[in-house]
Amino acid sequence: MSTDTPRKTVLVALAVCLVCSVLVSSAAVGLRGIQEKNREQDQLKNILIAGDVLDNKKDIRELYDEYIQADIVELRTGKILAKGEYTEVLNPEKFEIKIVAKNPEYSRKLDAEEDLAQIGQQPNYMVIYWVKVQGQKTKLILPLFGKGLWSTMYGLIALDQDLTTVKGFTFYEHGETPGLGGEVDNPTWKRSWIGKKAFDESGKLQIEVIKGKVNHADSQTQYQVDGLSGATLTTRGINNLVQFWLSENGYGPFIARQRGMR
Ligand SMILES: Cc1cc2nc3c(=O)[nH]c(=O)nc-3n(C[C@H](O)[C@H](O)[C@H](O)COP(=O)(O)O)c2cc1C
Repeated sequence: MSTDTPRKTVLVALAVCLVCSVLVSSAAVGLRGIQEKNREQDQLKNILIAGDVLDNKKDIRELYDEYIQADIVELRTGKILAKGEYTEVLNPEKFEIKIVAKNPEYSRKLDAEEDLAQIGQQPNYMVIYWVKVQGQKTKLILPLFGKGLWSTMYGLIALDQDLTTVKGFTFYEHGETPGLGGEVDNPTWKRSWIGKKAFDESGKLQIEVIKGKVNHADSQTQYQVDGLSGATLTTRGINNLVQFWLSENGYGPFIARQRGMR
């Protein structure tokens, strides 16, 4: 005769649930450290890729320490913070765009008309990265972010030491549709940025991601990047966020200040 009763069945089910939830939560807690470390490694790797100094045979942290110098910039003035001004949040080693953007002490709410990148809240400070080869600053890597069609896209633009010629462009986080807006990850499209000029000789912002393909007969070619086909809205978002971050509201004051130092 079966000894099963509804009570026993419920108790066994509850016990199984309890054991499983303990296992899942311990795994989540136990793996948190590894996840954090992977996330950090990933970010360092993105910076090395943008600076074109990644070497898969070498340790990421060592390469980063060898080639990259990170600074914190106050966007309004374009000033680089001195090490003595670093805080727990405003610190190149710990700087997290999403955290700073949410912190009212370190960010400002943008009016609709100035919020070209559709980010709502803009950090007052950003981390920037110099690529240094034998002690010489050879490139500047600037983080940028803004709304695509479905998601906020986070990327990096690398400029040559002339602070005008694009040396690299990549998004390291986005949620656009694979095959459409997701073509931002297409290596050919990313390469098409290299050599484009962000500013003209007078320092005016000129770079533009256009709808469709660049017409090479056009005199503006050096400032234009192909749009993504079938993804006009993502393309528009990218153009807007690039315009925003390289303008007066973004890195404009910092770039002007760096130019003035030459
Ligand atoms: C399921 C689905 C996903 C889409 N994903 C994107 C996208 O990631 N980025 C984008 O710009 N357009 C996307 N679109 C298309 C837009 O709705 C719109 O049609 C397109 O941006 C127009 O681009 P076109 O003028 O180059 O054809 C998607 C459409 C559908 C139906």
